[in-house]
Amino acid sequence: PAPVTLAALAAKKRAGEKIVMVTAYDYPGALAAEEAGVDIVLVGDSGAMTVLGYPDTNEVSVDEMLMLTAAVRRGLQAPLLVGDLPFGSYEDSDEQAVATARRFVDEAGCDAVKLEGGGPGSVSRVRAIIAAGIPVMGHVGLTPQSAAELGGFKAQGRTAESARRVAGEALALQDAGCFAVVFEAIPAAVAETIVGSMTAVVIGIGAGPTVDGQVLVLHDLLGMSSGGSARFVKRYADLHTATVEGLATFAAEVRDGTYPAPEHCYGIPDDELAAFLT
Ligand code: KIV
Ligand code: NA
Repeated sequence: PAPVTLAALAAKKRAGEKIVMVTAYDYPGALAAEEAGVDIVLVGDSGAMTVLGYPDTNEVSVDEMLMLTAAVRRGLQAPLLVGDLPFGSYEDSDEQAVATARRFVDEAGCDAVKLEGGGPGSVSRVRAIIAAGIPVMGHVGLTPQSAAELGGFKAQGRTAESARRVAGEALALQDAGCFAVVFEAIPAAVAETIVGSMTAVVIGIGAGPTVDGQVLVLHDLLGMSSGGSARFVKRYADLHTATVEGLATFAAEVRDGTYPAPEHCYGIPDDELAAFLT
């Protein structure tokens, strides 16, 4: 299939065709996303938790993200590859943001980067990165890197004032040139109103059905993550259970001698064996 371009995504939006985005953090995940025909693959900083085992996303370093992202790049052809700028890698200055974004393109082969927030700082970083020639995806609503300031991991835009703030940030990111904006955990009715004034592609996660596309974290949708999950998560597989069952059966067969069977063993010609034994 042809590579997914920014123009192709904009055309899908205009045609009312839903856009599919998923996260991936490694080579097999990328191959699966490719084969399934998704449009956009995000190497999310959610990888801090899903594959690196940190308690939250703010622990992951740029170098760690680059290693995950480069692995995804090696498995990906058609989908657009978006790298997620981690906490602490872009907030200080436009120069820092551009330098970090360049690493995601040069060292990990990203087609675009994503950063969180729609306040003046984020908008300035977005303009600077785009001016450097790198497309940017925005992210508003529940932005996990600033969850502490948002009062925890909870839906945003559930008061008129909060909904107005989310709308203002989304439009500011669009004005700054974002080709797409993620809306995370906001009321469906609020998302529906904002998306009416968005020419940029809107990808929702917990933002209802009216947005231009949907994203979920790979480990959530495939049932590979442990612990509770947010309201918006739907599980399409139970890979954790399948994985544990496979490993438990292997363990049982090793212990009772069922594995390896003759078909798993190599032979040697009788004369060679006889010579070996003398
Ligand atoms: O890190 C991530 O997985 C994300 C998506 C949920 C949008 O930012
Ligand atoms: Na993220």
